[in-house]
Amino acid sequence: MKILVINGPNLNMLGIREPHIYGKKTYKDLCDMINGYALSRGVEVEIYQSNHEGALVDKIQEAYTAADGIVINPGAYTHTSVALLDALKAVGIPAVEVHISDVDSREDFRKISYVRTYCFKTVSGHGFEGYLEAIDSVLERLAEGK
Ligand code: DQA
Repeated sequence: MKILVINGPNLNMLGIREPHIYGKKTYKDLCDMINGYALSRGVEVEIYQSNHEGALVDKIQEAYTAADGIVINPGAYTHTSVALLDALKAVGIPAVEVHISDVDSREDFRKISYVRTYCFKTVSGHGFEGYLEAIDSVLERLAEGK
């Protein structure tokens, strides 16, 4: 069982970028937390981050043969990218959308999410913990055989 955790643009700047919104913990802290959780749940995870839309599309396509489930925080591409939505549809792997902040209570443009039309669940506004919830949801979905 392998879950691919994908992070989009500027998430590598966690700890530096807008700490009043995203907190003071760093991207490394996030990766350590996800890896530790995966270990405790006995599931393999790969964590990937890119600032480039095409690289994120390539990584989603790779998952077709390399992963059973996807957890994705597309960052700002959430609100703009049909390409990421199409890549998720193409591979057809169960996916959960995650956001550290509560996107629905911020600017209007953040209320639009293209990937949401594919993802079976969205976790928003639960901070770093949201990634762990998303992993649990993917594992539950896979256990149900969907
Ligand atoms: C984000 C929310 C997005 O609107 C923003 O562009 C991000 C991070 C979040 O995790 O809260 O880069 O996806």
